[in-house]
Amino acid sequence: MESSKLLAKIRLHDKVPRHVAIIMDGNGRWAESRNLPRTAGHRAGMEAVTEVIEGSIEAGVEVLTLFAFSTENWQRPSIEIDALMGLLRLYINKEKVRLRNMGVEVYILGDLTKVNSITRKAIKDIASVTTGGDTLRLNLMISYSGRNDLLEACRSFAEEVSKGEMVPAELSEEILSERLYTAGIPDPDLLIRTSGEFRVSNFMLWQIAYTELSIVFTLWPDFSREDLFDAICDYHLRDRRFGRIVGQEISG
Ligand code: IPE
Ligand code: IPE
Ligand code: MG
Repeated sequence: MESSKLLAKIRLHDKVPRHVAIIMDGNGRWAESRNLPRTAGHRAGMEAVTEVIEGSIEAGVEVLTLFAFSTENWQRPSIEIDALMGLLRLYINKEKVRLRNMGVEVYILGDLTKVNSITRKAIKDIASVTTGGDTLRLNLMISYSGRNDLLEACRSFAEEVSKGEMVPAELSEEILSERLYTAGIPDPDLLIRTSGEFRVSNFMLWQIAYTELSIVFTLWPDFSREDLFDAICDYHLRDRRFGRIVGQEISG
């Protein structure tokens, strides 16, 4: 179905996913299948980022979280890492004003101590330029690890306990959630992974407990807003039971 028809279908539905998360995978394979260097795939993937940001706004999604670079990705050859960081800076410089004008508030989340200073500067820049955007919150996960996020949260809690500011029994799901990078935002309703890999690769391990999964075979650079709308329409068919039985009222 073409994207305008899919969008009309989404708008008729009262249940748009508030938070969509995407593991953007398959750039390397996209390039290799064209006999291009892997970095050409990363470059082409930037177009798909624009597609899903615009598509999310059109569909009425409130939060979009994109997994762009994992802590494990630091183990890739330095030439690929440098190209990825260079593309991130290019993307920021090219898109920051346009994103601000669209009302997109950008957060770059992850262990940024590992990121070089010029890239960190660009990250600070896009965050400050887009502050206050109230159409869409965009989380770009860079140097991110779900396990590490949880470990740091536990460490900070343990430190407070050791100082006598908290007692272990006070640790709750809410308190832990508030110490993660995603503090204050709802858990993802829908997680899309491109390129046909059936794994979560250390992404938002805590937050996806009850997230609906959508694995698509499209490689990330080929992913379009139509693919996003397809995934949202498919989400509408899901029966989210949260452990309850069909038709039971969800309370508390
Ligand atoms: C996703 O594409 C981008 C990053 C992980 C940085 P890949 O680079 O993982 O592409 P494939 O999976 O090798 O095709
Ligand atoms: C997951 O993709 C990380 C990102 C998309 C940023 P990878 O390509 O790194 O994951 P694996 O190695 O296939 O699990
Ligand atoms: Mg990959």
